[in-house]
Amino acid sequence: MTNINLDAVRACVFDAYGTLFDVTSAARSARDALGDNWQPVADLWRIKQLQYTWLRGLAGHHADFWQVTGDALDFALAALEIDRPGLRERLMNLYLGLSAYPEVPDTLRRLKAGGMRLAILSNGTPAMLAAAVASAGIAELFDVVLSVEEVRVYKPHPKVYGLAARHLQLPPENACFVSSNGWDAYAAKAFGYRALWCNRSGQPPERIPATPDGEIPDLSALLDIVPA
Ligand code: LAC
Repeated sequence: MTNINLDAVRACVFDAYGTLFDVTSAARSARDALGDNWQPVADLWRIKQLQYTWLRGLAGHHADFWQVTGDALDFALAALEIDRPGLRERLMNLYLGLSAYPEVPDTLRRLKAGGMRLAILSNGTPAMLAAAVASAGIAELFDVVLSVEEVRVYKPHPKVYGLAARHLQLPPENACFVSSNGWDAYAAKAFGYRALWCNRSGQPPERIPATPDGEIPDLSALLDIVPA
């Protein structure tokens, strides 16, 4: 990773779900109700959530990420034949307070202390993102928290990636976009950002346009790569 030259980078722009926040932590926290099904619920919930963003985008039927997340949960619970009173509300509420990955707060604090500007660019609604950063105790570290609701279409539409460069008033090549979702890192690179794929689960390369500048196993590796 040390051969990646990000000297011109003045800001780090993070994806939220899967990158800063562990999307499986909601279902894991409801293990008492879900039993061994917590992982299948978590996986199907996430897969359908992303599918619905893409399907709605292609069809021109935007609905915000809170609705999409609830719709995806409804699908997952129905597919797995889970029907318990209060469970949907409980899981949705847990989604507002997802756990941050363990290295996240310290890494962000060090980047900030080194003078890096920090931003979030996410599918999440402003209310969901505000709840997540507050719950993780990292709200004050970000210069700006950006939601796709400003353009009402989901990633990977180029309009979304344009938001961060515009708000930070930087050319995209002076910002490093960081996502654990491979397709998101590839799309940000295609837009013009420097991009790092935080490949937490050791996925193979995506087969879509543009290749990120590098892969990191978790966010702490950023401290060795971006200028401080
Ligand atoms: C987000 C999704 C992609 O936070 O995880 O935008």
